[in-house]
Amino acid sequence: MEFKLTQDGSYTVYNQLYNEHYHSISGAFEEAQQKHVKALGIEDNMKILDFCFGLGYNSILALKNHNNIEIIGLENDINILEMIKNLKVPDEIKKEYDSFRNIANSRDICNKQNNRIKIILDDALKSIKILPNNYFDRIFFDPFSPKKQPKMWSESVFQNMYRIMKPKAKLSTYSCAKMVRRNMESAGLEVIDGPVIGRKSPATIAIKL
Ligand SMILES: C[S@@+](CC[C@H](N)C(=O)[O-])C[C@H]1O[C@@H](n2cnc3c(N)ncnc32)[C@H](O)[C@@H]1O
Repeated sequence: MEFKLTQDGSYTVYNQLYNEHYHSISGAFEEAQQKHVKALGIEDNMKILDFCFGLGYNSILALKNHNNIEIIGLENDINILEMIKNLKVPDEIKKEYDSFRNIANSRDICNKQNNRIKIILDDALKSIKILPNNYFDRIFFDPFSPKKQPKMWSESVFQNMYRIMKPKAKLSTYSCAKMVRRNMESAGLEVIDGPVIGRKSPATIAIKL
């Protein structure tokens, strides 16, 4: 796997098996910031699930200027976690990244601001079953596309997301596919449009009311 420069100057990776990039090529950093972190809003002391951690952009951006955040990252590919060691990131998140460069080896790191990232290295479809009820304030939901990974976007996965979310918790994702939104609604989540960034259609925010 190789790094690929995106249009905002940040790097993504191309995955040959799924024939997809890990981020929008209009901007990896921009996507993490606008569709996930800003779209949901982050506060100190939150508990966050990063469903498909990858290079960790969503999680590590969420920690910036915050304390006491606990993140659980689900990922099944050690190779992408290894790539974090050499990922060139925008200056504004370099300090945060440097604390978590070794996440492939440690899998549980806490920085000076008491922000903790713990990785569960396994199939996310298995890992979600062991996560506790009513626990997370925010979920970054970021698998490969519904066409390539339909099982990740099923009603049963969103039922699990609903179960582990606290009341008023929010989930962000880049997809606005009808099937995805229908499965979210069937699982009990309220669906609203997320921001329009890098493409014509909006992202999606799902809320547990
Ligand atoms: C679109 S990328 C996520 C990008 C990531 N959020 C980031 O900021 O770099 C999808 C990620 O899901 C991971 N993945 C694919 N199938 C998985 C599975 N069954 N369980 C856990 N992770 C999976 C891939 O290895 C990849 O890192």
